[in-house]
Formats: sequence, C-alpha cells, structure tokens
Amino acid sequence: MRNGGFCVFILFVSCVFATPTKLGGLLSPPRADYGKCHSVNLNDRLDCFPEKNANQRDCEARGCCWMAANSDLGDQPSIPYCFFQPKAQSYIFRDIKEVSNGIEATLERSYKSHYPRDVEVIKLIATYHSDDTLQIKVIDPSNQRYETFFPEVDLPPPSTTNPLYKFIIADDKQGFKVLRKSDNTAVFDASDLSNFIYSDQFLQITTKLPSENIYGLGEQRKRLKLSSEWSELTLFNHDAAPMAHVNIYGTHPFYLLIEKSANAHGVFLKNSNAMDLILQPTPSLTYRTIGGILDFYIFLGPTPSDVLKQYQNVIGKPKMPPYWSLGFHLCRWGIDSLENTKQVLKRNLDAGIPVEVQWNDLDYMDNQNIFTYNKNKFNGLPEFVKDLHNQGRRYVILIDPGLSGSEAPGTSLPYDRGLELDVFVKNSSGNVFIGKVWNPISTVFPDFTHPNAYVYWKEMLKKFHDIVPFDGAWIDMNEPSNNEFPFGCPQSDLESPPYFPNIDGQYLRTKTFSMTAQQHKGVHYNVHNLFGISEANITSRAMSEILNERSFIISRSTFAGYGRYGGHWGGDVFSTWDELRYSIPHLLDFSLFGVPLMGSDICGFNDNSNEDLCNRWMQLGAFYPFSRNHNSINLRDQDPAAMGSQVIRSSIKALNIRYSLLPYLYTLFWQAHKDGLTVARPLMVEFPEDANTYDIDTSFLWGSALLIAPVLENDPQSISVYLPKGVWYNYYTLEALQSGGQSFDVKTDKDTIPLFLRGGYVIPTGSAAKTTKEVRESPLKLIVSPDELGRANGVYYNDDGVSVDVGTKYTLLEFNACNGKLDITISHGNNSLQSLSALILGVEEDITSVKVDNTYHQNFVYNKNAKTLLIEDLQIKSESTIIRWH
Ligand code: NOJ
Repeated sequence: MRNGGFCVFILFVSCVFATPTKLGGLLSPPRADYGKCHSVNLNDRLDCFPEKNANQRDCEARGCCWMAANSDLGDQPSIPYCFFQPKAQSYIFRDIKEVSNGIEATLERSYKSHYPRDVEVIKLIATYHSDDTLQIKVIDPSNQRYETFFPEVDLPPPSTTNPLYKFIIADDKQGFKVLRKSDNTAVFDASDLSNFIYSDQFLQITTKLPSENIYGLGEQRKRLKLSSEWSELTLFNHDAAPMAHVNIYGTHPFYLLIEKSANAHGVFLKNSNAMDLILQPTPSLTYRTIGGILDFYIFLGPTPSDVLKQYQNVIGKPKMPPYWSLGFHLCRWGIDSLENTKQVLKRNLDAGIPVEVQWNDLDYMDNQNIFTYNKNKFNGLPEFVKDLHNQGRRYVILIDPGLSGSEAPGTSLPYDRGLELDVFVKNSSGNVFIGKVWNPISTVFPDFTHPNAYVYWKEMLKKFHDIVPFDGAWIDMNEPSNNEFPFGCPQSDLESPPYFPNIDGQYLRTKTFSMTAQQHKGVHYNVHNLFGISEANITSRAMSEILNERSFIISRSTFAGYGRYGGHWGGDVFSTWDELRYSIPHLLDFSLFGVPLMGSDICGFNDNSNEDLCNRWMQLGAFYPFSRNHNSINLRDQDPAAMGSQVIRSSIKALNIRYSLLPYLYTLFWQAHKDGLTVARPLMVEFPEDANTYDIDTSFLWGSALLIAPVLENDPQSISVYLPKGVWYNYYTLEALQSGGQSFDVKTDKDTIPLFLRGGYVIPTGSAAKTTKEVRESPLKLIVSPDELGRANGVYYNDDGVSVDVGTKYTLLEFNACNGKLDITISHGNNSLQSLSALILGVEEDITSVKVDNTYHQNFVYNKNAKTLLIEDLQIKSESTIIRWH
C-alpha cells in the first residue's frame, strides 16, 4: 500500500476511507508548534499574512509562526515573518474513490482559516483526460460556485492507455502530487497542504516546483524566464502601460517548466478571478485567487512544444490570420484628418515602405462615438478605403467597446438598439451601468456575454461596414477600461474582498467597472477578465460573416484561449531602449499563451521616439509576427518616412526580408493553427536540452529554422549571439558557422538586423514585393540549408489567404534534401506554381551537373566563393520531383 509515504490510487483500488462526519462550525486554528516552525528554511516560508500590517499577535491568531527575517525586496514580496507551520492539517482527505479515468475525494477543513466563509468540505476530482493531460478540479460539492466560461474547453471523452503520470495522495492525507512516471519528478507537488485555503473569496494553494526554469504567467512586462527570488505576478486585466510588477491587459494563468532532466511540463489554472502568483526560491509557486474554483490542467509534454500543443488542445488553437495581415501596418493616434492619413501613407509609400494596411485610431470617429465617422475631417473616408482596396491594400479601424450613454432617443442607433435589445452591462440595481471613457458625457458598455450581444454587435458592425468597408477591427480599451463612476459605486464584499490582490490601483474597480456591475454570465467581480475575450469572440465571428472572409481582430485585453479569435499588440509601451528589449519576452509569452499574432507598437507608443531607437525598432518589428508602427497623440511623427533616411533604409531592408519570408511565415501560422506550434519561438522551446538557452530572451526563432538576433542598443560594433549546437548560415553572407553551442561576435551595421538560417531546414520564400499579394504570386524560391550530415527538410503551405474554410483548396509541398538530392513532394493540392527555384547552401564541391527527374537541367549556377548552388526554372509537375546535383 505504501509508496514512499504515499498511497498510489491509480494502482491500488483499495485505498478507500470512511465518509467524513461534517463538523458543525469550525474551531479556531490551534497555536503553531514553534518546534516545527524552526524547521522551516527562510526560502520555504509560505506567507500566512499576505495582507498589510502583519504582526505577531494577529499572525499567531491564524495558527501561524512568527519569526523575523531580514529582507527588503522593494515592491516585491519579502521573506514573510508570518508563515505556515508544516503539515498544519488545513484540509484532510477523507473519502477517496477511484472512478473511471480518475479519482474523486473529499477534503475536510480542520479549523477556521482567517478568511470568511471557508468551504468546510470540498471535493477534488482528478480526471485523466489522456496519457499526457490530467485535470485536477476542486469544487464546493454543496454549492455551485462561479466557474469561468472561457476558454471554451471541448475535450474528447477521457481515455488513457499508458499515462505519463501518477496522481498520488499523501499517506498522511494532507496533500497530493502528480509524478512523471518515467523519473518520479513531481510536476505538481501539493503534498503539504498547510497553506491550502478554500474560502469564498480567497483560494490558495502552493505547488513545489521541480526547477526554477519557469515561463509564462502573464500578462506582465517581465523577462521570459520568471524570477523565483520572491517575485509576485498579479493577473487582473488592466489598462496600464507595461511597467515592471504591474498587472496589464491580459490574464494567462499558464506556465511552462523545464525540469532538471530537460523534460517539460505545463500547468494551466482555469480561473478568471483576480489572482496573485508568488514565486519563491524553494522553488514553489503559490496561487492566490479571490474567487471561482481551482481547476488545474497539467500537461506532461515531455518536450516544451508538446506541452504547448497539449495546452492548446484544451484552450483552442490559434486562428489562421488572413495573409494580408502579415504585411506591414501603419497607424498612429492623432492623425486627425483623412488628409493627414493620406499624406502619411503617401510619404511612406513614396519612400518605398511596403505599407499593406493603413489604420485609423479613434480620431476618425464623430465625437468619439463608435460606428460613426467625422464627416468633416474624414470626409471621403469610404472612397479612400475603396481606393486602398483597389491598390491591394487594407484598412483597419479602432473600435472601443463603450458608446455614448447620453444621446437623445432616436439620434444614436448603437445606443437605442442596445437599449432595445437590453444588451448593456447593468449596475447592481439592474439599471444600465454608466461609466465614462472617451465620450463627452457618459459611456455605456455592451455586455458581450449577453445572448443578444451577437445580434447587436454584428448589426452595428455591418451597418458601419456598409458605409466604411473596413477590413479589420482593432478592439481597444476592453479590459474593460473606464475612468469615472458618475453615479458612484455601492459598498460590497465584492468591492472590498477580504484579500486585496496586488493590483495597480487602490480598488479593484480602479480604471474599470464597479465589481458589482452585472453581466449576463456573472457579476463583474468574476467575469472582469473575460470582457475582452467575450468581445473578441463575437467580433471575430461577426466580421467573418460580414466579410465572408477570415476576420482580423487585434485585441488589447486577452484571456487564456484568446488566440482562437485574433491577435494582440503589446499595448502602450514607452519609446525606450528597455522597452524595445522587453518587447521580445512579451512577444514570446504570447507564443506560450497560444496567441502567435503579436507585436508591440514599433518605435514605442508613449513619449517621443528618436531616430536611433526607431531604426532598431523597425528592424526588430519587421520580425514581430504582427508588425505595426503605432504612436500616441501629441508626439513627434515616427512613421518610418518621418524618421529620415537611416530609418527608411533599414526599414526597407528589414521589411523586404520579411516580405520575402512570408511564404515561410504563413506556413508557420498554418502549423500553429493546425497543431499548436509556435511561430515566434523562444530558443528554450526549440532547444530544451541546451540549458544555455533557458535565459535567452534577446533573440528568438521563427519556427525552427530562422534565428533573429536584433540589435537592442544604438550602435554597437558587434553583438554577441548564442547559436545552439549545429550548423548555422549567416542570412546575408550565407557563410556557414559550425557552433558547438556557443556565442559568436556578430559585426553589425546600422542598416542590418542579424539573422541566421539553421542547418537542417528548407524554407519557402518569395520575392520582396511591395504588397503581400505580389509576394503570394511571385515564384517560390526554396532556401535549402543542410545540417552537418547534408540533410534538410521543410514544408510549404498556401491557400487563397482569406477563406474561412479552405476545405481542400490548399497546396502543401514537402521538401527533403540529403547530400546532393532534393525531393519535392506535392502532399496536397494540384500545384499551381509555374516554376520554382532552389538555393542550396553549404555546397562544398564544384557542381557540374544537375538533373531533374533524371533529365539534365541547364539552368543552374554554382558559386564557389559563397558555396551556393542556385537552380532555377524547376517545373514541379508530378507528385514527386527529385533534383540531383553533383
Ligand atoms: C489606448 C491604446 O492602447 C492605444 O493604442 C490607442 O492609441 C489609444 N487607446 C487611443 O485610442
């Protein structure tokens, strides 16, 4: 029965205990046993008094240990004086049953926690969904508590054959853990539930982590690898510029962890309430959420990519973006007329910047009202948009969720129709909730969880689209952001919960709705973090139906599972070198969160940018999957053409490379959409066996094959770039570098962003055209970069770029190269490519003949210096074409 002090329930069915007798009211906690308190290392202290003003008397009244510790970590949590004693018997497992595909157990609280309304008896349900994914859900069996309705989880019925994990309940019934079967690593270790609290508005649990290589948990402005040195991350969607330790626009309670063995696992807490997450050096992670339930999904990997796929199986895979949205976007707040919009666009096109999409911020609106445009300053907007379409360009507008709540009846369709359909968010008395954002007097907000919201929103979008045929929706301010409460806010436990998370602001309602505001699917306190994803879901669906094409949505607020509706931008970043650098981990975090279409405001949003910064930011931004230059109001112009010849030169150079790589980028998006792979990929995801990559967040990959190493300072002579073991080719010189897993000094100049092609891959490219349409129509050129054994492979995906359901109308080519031979297979579709070319790198010996399917082919050039072989005019007719050279 025993297994290292634990009862293994998947193996031993007989571990069934008597049903508990429910206690009638809980007793106060027993005094801490200071003998046990002394056994706790400083690093392992679990904070028993996370509120302000901890003191010995109140600490001991909680049954906790009070012992001084010297630490001052500024605004991060410091080593607690007040901490839980080990094995404090908070909850005890009482009734444990094996059920088909899992375990069910009850846990009974032994004494009162400090927080009101302890749930005295809770139920834990462990469900073994598949061999790599299990769920641990802890509920109140006597009361239906609020559960988040996003992400929309739709898993097949549980079925396991040989799970990678074991779920284990501690022998002393005071905890549980999940072990990786292969090496007994505890991937979720709550084997001591001392600090476990499940009360109405405070739910807390700690898991010990098997290593400090932990990533994810956002949205915050932070390094890619999280700090376990007493750091705290607060998740509560919030309108604030990205700054250290500040909760910002989105909530993604998911982490990826690389274990000591280089295996990886992931954990997702499906909970939408405000939460604090504390990482400390044990290492351990403490979750503290102020509502909902605890509902964990654990993914066993074992590679980081496997973990991310498994996570996206649960939350949904990313939406396939329209091809055009991978072009370069030009935007700013403060282009206050159509004339100016035209001028900015013109100066950039004239300068040779391949602008694919022109945007307008709220400037276009009439009196800041959504679904209107200013007929004076933006007179001719509909014609302008049609003209853009004729040029093969697109147009995106900002749409705020709020609309004016002070319009006379009969004068504002969005307001009148919203009232008629009863779709606005309500206050606690059941009247329309009134706030104030941009509108001159007051603002009301659609409740995107309301059953009528879809009809309402689609009708509004459609009516406006009939006038201004915009191509995409930029949904902003949807944390939701709100500045004022013209009618005040009622007192409530929801406004003043017993535990106040470490959010930016004095109240939970700071810069948002009152927590007592009511939405169809719940009180705002619970559903706050879901406002943006609810809006995105509806907007994305409505726009697809209106356009009869794939929609393009960029949302500021996001939640786990958002990727299936649209993309995200990095918010109101400051125009500084630091923020340029932090935009990379920000981007990569969203890769982990299943939102690959992401990028920050190129050249920075807040404060004036400058030529040097913008020069480097345009270079990096050309490699954000979502590439948009955007700026705030009342600042100097920062579109590339306004920044002078240096910025223009390097923008064109970097964007030309981006455009030529669009066939590869689009293929990566398809792989993300189909399989949950990442597009902008952290090095540690690709190279988990190489611990040198764990800290790297100044460079990243596109897929497996292209490494982007941006210059993040003004004008260095060279930068140091870490290349994992293998062959890499300098993108510009095509020179091969053999890396043993080491850093290289790479010379830089002002015009160039260092790029490396990875040996072992074939990437499809096109021409560096001025629009994405031209790229799509240009002949395909394969870059074949062999590894040390002369092998390379890759795929190419293409479709019409816009259809919602491409059905069977797509092309899929597969490439396999091996020592003097390239195999091109048409895996799907009839190949409509007229001809293609292949550039083979690292060809050491003189090439004198090339054969295509056994026929001599004349059109090739071998370059002895560059060691490249260019074969042109390849006709791919049959299902498989073999090209040989020697
Ligand atoms: C806030 C957004 O983050 C920013 O990008 C936009 O320009 C302003 N709202 C004005 O609409």
